[in-house]
Amino acid sequence: MVALSSKFLAFSPLILASVVTAQTFRRLGTCPTLGCVFPPDQADFLPGALFDIRLEVHAPVNGTEAYNGGVPDEKFTFCIQKGKKGKCEDVKKFFKVKEAELEKWEFSYFEDLFARDAGAPSVVNVASKAYRSLTLKESGDYYAKLTYYGRSETVAHWTVREANKKRKAKNVVFFIGDGMTQPMVTAARMIGHKSINGKYQSMMQMDQMEAFGMQMTHSIDTFITDSANSASALYTGHKSSVDAVSVYGDSSPDKFDDPKVETIGELFRRRTGGPVGIVTTAYLADATPACLCSHTRARGQSAPIIYHTLNGKSGMNDLTWDTSCEGPDVFFGGGAEQFIPGPGSWNGTDFYNAFADKGYNVVNTKSAMVKTSNKKKTLGVFSISNLAKWLDRQVYPENLQNQQNSPTGDGSAAVDQPGLKDMAIKAIDILQSRAQKDQGWFLMAEAANIDKMMHALDYDRALGDLLELDDTIRATIAHLDKIGELKDTLIVITADHGHGFDVFGGVDTKYMQAQTGDLKKREAVQPYAGSGASSYQVEGESLASNNTYVVGPQGPNFPVQWDPRYVFAAGMGASPDRREGYDVKKTGPRNPTVRNADGLYVPDPADQPDGFFVTGTLPPSDQAQGVHSLTDVPVYASGPGSEAFRGIYNSIDIFYKIADALALGKESK
Ligand SMILES: *[C@@H]1O[C@H](CO)[C@@H](O)[C@H](O)[C@H]1NC(C)=O
Ligand SMILES: *[C@@H]1O[C@H](CO)[C@@H](O)[C@H](O)[C@H]1NC(C)=O
Ligand SMILES: *[C@@H]1O[C@H](CO)[C@@H](O)[C@H](O)[C@H]1NC(C)=O
Ligand SMILES: [Zn+2]
Repeated sequence: MVALSSKFLAFSPLILASVVTAQTFRRLGTCPTLGCVFPPDQADFLPGALFDIRLEVHAPVNGTEAYNGGVPDEKFTFCIQKGKKGKCEDVKKFFKVKEAELEKWEFSYFEDLFARDAGAPSVVNVASKAYRSLTLKESGDYYAKLTYYGRSETVAHWTVREANKKRKAKNVVFFIGDGMTQPMVTAARMIGHKSINGKYQSMMQMDQMEAFGMQMTHSIDTFITDSANSASALYTGHKSSVDAVSVYGDSSPDKFDDPKVETIGELFRRRTGGPVGIVTTAYLADATPACLCSHTRARGQSAPIIYHTLNGKSGMNDLTWDTSCEGPDVFFGGGAEQFIPGPGSWNGTDFYNAFADKGYNVVNTKSAMVKTSNKKKTLGVFSISNLAKWLDRQVYPENLQNQQNSPTGDGSAAVDQPGLKDMAIKAIDILQSRAQKDQGWFLMAEAANIDKMMHALDYDRALGDLLELDDTIRATIAHLDKIGELKDTLIVITADHGHGFDVFGGVDTKYMQAQTGDLKKREAVQPYAGSGASSYQVEGESLASNNTYVVGPQGPNFPVQWDPRYVFAAGMGASPDRREGYDVKKTGPRNPTVRNADGLYVPDPADQPDGFFVTGTLPPSDQAQGVHSLTDVPVYASGPGSEAFRGIYNSIDIFYKIADALALGKESK
């Protein structure tokens, strides 16, 4: 934070007096005064990366901030100053753009929970302008100054970081373990790796990466992030708000006019022309895949997100934007409901056809994916909604039967689904064969179900998918080595946020089943000395006569058994009321709650029937599952540029570190 000249700090006393300290609900999180600048104060930029500017002047009609009779100043001015001593130049001259048209709208918000309960929103009138597809090319400090209501000022201090000029990495594989924290990695290590007298006989692949760091996941305006704004931060170098997909959240009702920021996928394509891949075990319009190649204020806009990812436009409000992923070269995941013509697809059109019309191979099964050519762009959609969890695919495959989730929409079960490893390896082959000369390629691969299963308090399934991610990283390294690309590839693994999960002891499930009553059942949970050693790896039988270890049917680095008598006991930082029995759910993903007659989420009596009642901490009216937590999350990296990932930093720094490894920033005067 640099000191601003005193003239910049001179806010109108009238405005200051009206500032409220709302927390739960805010008029606009990034804008405590009545004049809003996006990108807001403290924003960082990569030289040459595209962004939009949105300016808003607010006039609250009523509530504690009511001002100017609810009439917003339409004659606001906006200038930008390079350095502390520079001249503040009008935005049009500074960026050599035309005057933007004045936009006006009204929005409302609740000042606090009392106002919500009383059904009394505060109403705000807005005057606004937006300038689009801009860049700042020279590194240094900038001050963007909005002047409104005569003499009120909002000053945004922007920092354009220095760009690294020499490219270090040719390719990037960016793994995101959605919701993955270090305690989850630790728990996965315990169940997936044999330990003898306190010494692990093998390690996670993540444990063996060259660099380790931690990153802070909080949003721009809240402590707790969702996966949309955290992915936006990782991909764009700009923090944002809950639900925002690679945009800053403005106050307008239009979900497609919010100020966009260029993503690493778009930037990589624009700068190098190289191929970009997206792989996820979630539905393809879900937040983490969506944020790489589309932009909207509302992550729930699934159909426009798919349209936008393919076409580089939202299809709803095509505002000037000079960049896109131009349709990712690889697009693998679930979410067939956005592709099958019908209510979930954009304007009811067949998006398998829309992709095929743009030159894509389209595959719907693992078998077809493995066989398809590596030469063409490829869309792989393998189920309706999220893909199957690793535990169901690999250990309890009968759970894939009797569903109606075939990606063809024919009502059959999607039984031939790939795992993360299958998709990532195929994606690398396609990207490798499509990259020309020294373009290199960029792949984002998300293990989405770690998060989804932690929400459901299904610890076993979450850890199964975490072990699958680790297995995928191991296989990726081996594959890159095989094709001669390992030394040129930066591999980064991180999460977008955490859940408050940790292991605190062991449970004798046999003893618990034999008890009656919650208090007696809880005696089966033992901390410290009673926690024993992990029995997920079979005791005594592990060392075969030929000096190799017996491994389970799922291969090395996974538990030999998922339902030992002695299981781990885990807790969550936040949860609904629920039952806990700690044993693996063999019939499919866990669902801890049901809605009762009063509309409150209460423990599902069918969930963990051998377990005991645990009081939750979340509001029962609207939280059916666990929620995200504040924790910093781990970052692991190997390959050229990986040394930059050591230490503790902010989520947005991941973008700058990857952009630096690829030399995507471009400085000029
Ligand atoms: C503000 O005005 C609107 C519209 O008249 C009304 O519905 C709302 O309850 C008012 N809010 C407050 C906080 O007075
Ligand atoms: C698609 O649907 C949207 C919203 O219903 C509509 O505004 C738009 O005009 C439609 N576009 C086409 C090409 O039909
Ligand atoms: C070692 O012994 C185990 C157990 O008998 C067997 O499954 C495995 O194939 C053997 N491995 C080698 C390399 O011979
Ligand atoms: Zn989540």
